Amino acid sequence: MKELKQVRVFSPATVANVNCGFDVLGFALHGLGDEMVLRKVAQKGIKITSVTGAELPMETSQNVSGVAGEAMLNALNLDYGFEIEIHKKIRLGSGVGSSAASAAGVVFGINQFLKKPFSNLELTRFGMKGEAVASGNEHADNVAPCIYGGFTLITGYDPLKIVALPVPRDLFVTIIHPHISIKTREARELLPQQVSMQAAIQQSGNLAGLVAGLYENDYELIGTSTQDALVEGHRKALIPHFDELKATALKAGGLAFGISGSGPSMFTLTEGIETARNVEKKLVKVLAKHKLQTDSYVSSISTSGNQVLERN
Ligand code: HSE
Repeated sequence: MKELKQVRVFSPATVANVNCGFDVLGFALHGLGDEMVLRKVAQKGIKITSVTGAELPMETSQNVSGVAGEAMLNALNLDYGFEIEIHKKIRLGSGVGSSAASAAGVVFGINQFLKKPFSNLELTRFGMKGEAVASGNEHADNVAPCIYGGFTLITGYDPLKIVALPVPRDLFVTIIHPHISIKTREARELLPQQVSMQAAIQQSGNLAGLVAGLYENDYELIGTSTQDALVEGHRKALIPHFDELKATALKAGGLAFGISGSGPSMFTLTEGIETARNVEKKLVKVLAKHKLQTDSYVSSISTSGNQVLERN
């Protein structure tokens, strides 16, 4: 077989938290994502040769992809290294897993060159090292769905345990992104260190209900369970017109609405694509009324994570 010299990979955008699973639940979006080219070179280590679509540090130790890639190389003993081109399509600070896509894409890409590739769980561990550069914390709720695809649940961090959940066929998502930027690190600082027993009980019921709803294809249960008792109240002030947008999405038929990751993007889950498009139209109208520029996006839940687009 011809030796692999270069690989081009796709790394999807993701929605983390999904309201009831702060730091433990996420899903992958379809079509929206970054691209990366990894080239095998004689020089050991990682060298970032170009970045398009965003201003990012080129220095490996400051760059999310660089740090994730180095973490993986440290666990290997390769006599070669990689040059990396990063083509960002996901806006930084938009709340749909931009840093996770950078981290996951590079570890998935390096894995293509290995005779004994790492498992998805191990790749997630390396990806989390990169994620920590951006958010100050090794959370896996964007990196895991990016690598596994679909819905992923982190059932434990120490040791890391991940369960891939089923994706009901008619479950769609509308993403709305008002053009403001929120740093995950800052959004995390807004959260309390302690929560009430009542909120904890509510949130455990919600997360369990959502998982049951996904297994049972029960859209009503998915909707009533995708609620946030812990985080939304502390973060929603960062997002202009959040309450109005939420009321609009639910009135337009959305099953559930919430902050995607640490925002400012927001997601609405729907049963069927028509409702997702209807929600999109109504939310865009609200933001236009308030003279806020936005991107919007309708997607199914992608059951495939990172993809190889080209091998040479
Ligand atoms: N769970 C993380 C947070 C996701 O909300 O801080 C960030 O995308």
